[in-house]
Amino acid sequence: MSEKNRSSFNGSIGFVLAAAGSAVGLGNIWRFPYLAAKDNGGMFILCYIILALTFGFALLTTEIAIGRKTKQSPLTAYKKINKKMGGIGTLATLVPVIILPYYCVIGGWVLKYFFTFASGQGTAAAADGYFTGYITQQWQPIIWMIVFLVFTSLTVFCGVNKGIEKLSKILMPILLLLVIGISVYSLTLSYTDAEGATRTGLEGLKIYLVPDFSNITLKEFFVTLMDAMGQLFFSISVAMGIMVAYGSYVSDDTNLMKSINQIETFDTIVALLAGLMIVPAVYVFMGRDGMSGGPGLMFVSLPKVFSEMGKIGTVIGFVFFLMVIFAAVTSSVSVMEAIVSSIMDRFHLDRKKSTVIVLIYAIIFGIIVCLGYNKLYFEVKLPNGSIGQILDVFDYISNNILMPFVALLTCILIGWVAKPKTVIDEVTKNGEKFNRKTIYIVMIKFVVPVLLFALLLQAVGLF
Ligand code: PHE
Repeated sequence: MSEKNRSSFNGSIGFVLAAAGSAVGLGNIWRFPYLAAKDNGGMFILCYIILALTFGFALLTTEIAIGRKTKQSPLTAYKKINKKMGGIGTLATLVPVIILPYYCVIGGWVLKYFFTFASGQGTAAAADGYFTGYITQQWQPIIWMIVFLVFTSLTVFCGVNKGIEKLSKILMPILLLLVIGISVYSLTLSYTDAEGATRTGLEGLKIYLVPDFSNITLKEFFVTLMDAMGQLFFSISVAMGIMVAYGSYVSDDTNLMKSINQIETFDTIVALLAGLMIVPAVYVFMGRDGMSGGPGLMFVSLPKVFSEMGKIGTVIGFVFFLMVIFAAVTSSVSVMEAIVSSIMDRFHLDRKKSTVIVLIYAIIFGIIVCLGYNKLYFEVKLPNGSIGQILDVFDYISNNILMPFVALLTCILIGWVAKPKTVIDEVTKNGEKFNRKTIYIVMIKFVVPVLLFALLLQAVGLF
């Protein structure tokens, strides 16, 4: 696609909200709280914030700057920075190709929960086995996945400013309000269980926020650090070409540094608030044991919490799942856009045709992922020790292997081959200040690659 015809965001707020829309997703609402609950709350949060300001900042800045500098989608952008390293673009585009189908399957689960609460059936969702019973059905999960996917495609179909920017401008502010509202409510909770023990939201808050250094081992600290890094990485949507694609739609006079800080702040605040909304509520109704719910925290534990709340629980559950839909859809839109824009740039197809091709692809693979829980069920032991089905295999290949690898190659490209100056010049080209310049250089050349390498070793089960 030539630069002249390339669409763009109307303004920097639109860009910030669209990028924040991509960053704020299931990762913030579903993954962050359960990791925080598992990893000694406060300590996880501390690691996460420090990493966000250094590690995350360096990667996000790099990708957005590559996008704006080259005005290309991920598939072709890296080649423009360095001819020999264009392969990074292919790998980076492969990530959203793998993620899109299964992200939409999960989006479909969220839709189902939303409609369950909307029709007043919330207590059914609290029953044991509801979640497994639902995802192992043959047709329903496929139908909800397709509904979610079609909505995502329609947004991408309408283009960067009429589709993505417009949607994000409406949904993101509402999402922020909803998450603030539910967190405040969560803090006011109090519950006396069958044994007569009373637990309050404020006690839960303390468990969530205050680090407990008393009997922590080095190994636990290391696990927490790796979890925080893996989470951050997923949360800011780097290493899958999305931020390159969005960066390519930003106008040359936008202050990139300012926008990047806003995107990161938005993403971190929503993650922290999601934890604030979920961890104390789960603690109040289910005690400390409930907090180790792991990945099932959102689909299994939370409906139980909502049902314990009584009548108001149906309303809170409804609002909660609405908010999760908003978070998930603005993310899936960005995943799809990364693929669509790549097809447009590489094969010179128009947006509409590219979107339809990607939609058909995603439906086929989405169906395969859904069938992974019934007709195509199998159990596979992944190198990191967990046991999974098709969805987990896709997730493992993209998040644990390809993403750290793509980010590592990007660090080599910018840190050592093209040099950090490439990014710094792009960010400061209108005379803007690059506030954390030294941190950026040290990060992109040394610290980030070393940490990513450790993450990769951990993913393949080497330590
Ligand atoms: N950043 C998103 C989140 O936190 C996750 C995501 C992954 C978004 C992949 C797009 C693509 O949930």
